[in-house]
Amino acid sequence: MTVSPPPTTPSATAPASALPAGHPLVDGRTAGAPLLAAYRGRRPDRRPVWFMRQAGRSLPEYREVRRGIGMLESCLQPDLAAEITLQPVRRHRVDAAILFSDIVVPLKLAGVDVEIVAGTGPVVASPVRTAADVAALPPLDPDALAPVAAEAAAVVAELGGTPLIGFAGAPFTLASYLVEGGPSKDHRRTKTLMHAAPQVWHALAAWTAGVTTAFLRAQVLAGASAVQVFDSWAGALSRPDYQAFVAEHSAAVFAGVADLGVPRVHFGVGTGELLTAMRDVGADVLGIDHRVPLDVATARLGGGVPVQGNIDPALLFAGERALHEHTLDVIRRGAAAPGHVLNLGHGVPPDTDPGVLTELVEFIHAQPGT
Ligand code: CP3
Repeated sequence: MTVSPPPTTPSATAPASALPAGHPLVDGRTAGAPLLAAYRGRRPDRRPVWFMRQAGRSLPEYREVRRGIGMLESCLQPDLAAEITLQPVRRHRVDAAILFSDIVVPLKLAGVDVEIVAGTGPVVASPVRTAADVAALPPLDPDALAPVAAEAAAVVAELGGTPLIGFAGAPFTLASYLVEGGPSKDHRRTKTLMHAAPQVWHALAAWTAGVTTAFLRAQVLAGASAVQVFDSWAGALSRPDYQAFVAEHSAAVFAGVADLGVPRVHFGVGTGELLTAMRDVGADVLGIDHRVPLDVATARLGGGVPVQGNIDPALLFAGERALHEHTLDVIRRGAAAPGHVLNLGHGVPPDTDPGVLTELVEFIHAQPGT
């Protein structure tokens, strides 16, 4: 079965009517969540905070339950993956859960031979580089997403008023793994494909947009109250290349979940030059990495966009005083935006002391709201 484009509405504030009756946004469970208020441009009393990559290797209880189970295998065991999703919420008292999964899970479920190699990242057995390679990409059977939906439903049943964030990789970042065959510093083969064979590139990006949209929809329909699209490696692109080769495909992903009415966050690393372009594809909230101060990012965005970020992950190792000073600076600069969700500028480093994260959440929650 092929993934057909889902229905779309142009409005970012569409009513949540496309959501099923038991969804936390429909039955009101997450209605008062500070995270969602900030994503919608309001200033809740409690400052919301969560951490990218909060579910994972920095937690001993995660290493314990993952022992002997492959990364992607663990993502597809709904009860295990739900438990891993909940671990950081219980331990750190963060304001959101993010589904334990990976951006390559929908590729795997479509039948692409991809594995996650510890310490390296996703590795694709047969890289996709020609028109024939793209034509041979398998369609994603929506039924294959059942383990993802089951995991999200199991998480939401435990979370009460804390929202679950669903996520997916953006078409460029996912396509880059498919073309390069694994992680890449310069994304040279991907850029070569864009410029040397634009039609092949566009066909590949459209395919990744389709599977990533289906992955997001499965998570939201099963109970996620917000979504984040990771274009982690888009910072490798010039703005003209982003506009010419990427924007329309990312826009298709954002439009493809618009009817669900959940806040849509867009995040990239080193994307300071792309912030307005990343907003214009349909994002409601921009995730900002630690290279651009939030007041500068807000000025670039013209002031109307809620932001998320951007504590430098390196500061988690710099001692409590330096971390607190830096966090207060992030909070001050974030006041320039209509809404602000505290987060790191990128993911939690694996060797982070979990106690530092728990204390940081307490410190942020102790700061008076605005
Ligand atoms: O944020 C969370 O806690 C939810 C889980 C999550 C994972 N991957 C689990 C994971 C999320 C949101 C992701 C997204 C992801 N995966 C991105 C975008 C986010 C970003 O960091 O920019 C990217 C680029 C990937 C691809 C990927 N998967 C990489 C680069 C790696 C790291 C490789 C390594 O081992 O250093 C992975 C593996 C991965 N994904 C792990 C986890 C917990 C580590 C694997 C393990 O614990 O064995």
